[in-house]
Amino acid sequence: MNLKGKDIISIKDFSKSEIDFILGYAKKMIPFAQGKTSTSLLQGKILSSLFFEPSTRTRLSFESAMSRLDGRIIGFADPTITSQKKGETLADTIRMADAYSDVIVLRHPLEGAARLAAEFAEVPVLNAGDGAGRHPTQCLLDLFTILTEKKNIEGQNVVLLGDLKYGRTVHSLAYALSLYGAELTFVSPKSLQMPKEMVEECRNLGVTPASTTKLEKVINKADVLYVTRIQKERFPDPEEYNRVVGIYQVNASMLTNVKNDLMIMHPLPRVTEIAPDVDMTPHALYFKQAFNGIPVRMALLSLVTGVVL
Ligand code: NCD
Repeated sequence: MNLKGKDIISIKDFSKSEIDFILGYAKKMIPFAQGKTSTSLLQGKILSSLFFEPSTRTRLSFESAMSRLDGRIIGFADPTITSQKKGETLADTIRMADAYSDVIVLRHPLEGAARLAAEFAEVPVLNAGDGAGRHPTQCLLDLFTILTEKKNIEGQNVVLLGDLKYGRTVHSLAYALSLYGAELTFVSPKSLQMPKEMVEECRNLGVTPASTTKLEKVINKADVLYVTRIQKERFPDPEEYNRVVGIYQVNASMLTNVKNDLMIMHPLPRVTEIAPDVDMTPHALYFKQAFNGIPVRMALLSLVTGVVL
């Protein structure tokens, strides 16, 4: 399968067989991702890492992935030190990164920014999160994590919890899980429900998600509990945020009657929605999930630059 030159803007840009192929290829990257063996696969290639919004895992794992492949990285983690401060447009910044590198990773607060960037760049653009829009590479590492732990995705009972309105990771994941035939339950306060068009996307793929405000009603049946942070920075009205802050907190005492192999996932960062006492339980998969960002992003960088193992 040839993904050379492909932009990764939304998970919807991929067919199921392309996703299967990427996840299979990511598995081969694990020994390199762990530093157990080395490769010079992307020697001579340059990644532009352009982060207009805060990030820890996404940026560091992309940069680690590029380094593990022996490629180089240019870029910024703070747009206030760039010419954007002088009024440069995103389109012009992208034109420059396009001329200076072989692949661009972009995180931006505006939905649609990555799609716009892809129009101005010849080299592939990977969307590392565009506002409340999409986060396709996170989605791929989430799928990779479920697949590695559970062996298949079809039929898994997956509960998505928290801020389903502004959380971009769950927008991508709900679609992808539907593509694989998982059973979906959405748990959120009424004001933070999954947007209607995204529920419709699931329905179009043959999945009808259940929806509730009460985690306790559904947690015991779950195979996967995917927890999200309330996206404070995306609320137009701070009062709206104050009404929902701290509304869900998963803690160890809630896990007494759950399935033995319940996996708890979180794209991180967490604030208060998962108590630290969950970390010590066998259900906590979020740190392993964060590691999986490296092999998955190594696979993507290799595939879109067209230099493959
Ligand atoms: C998420 C994001 O940026 O959308 N983090 C991540 O990429 N791992 C989730 C969040 O910020 O809550």
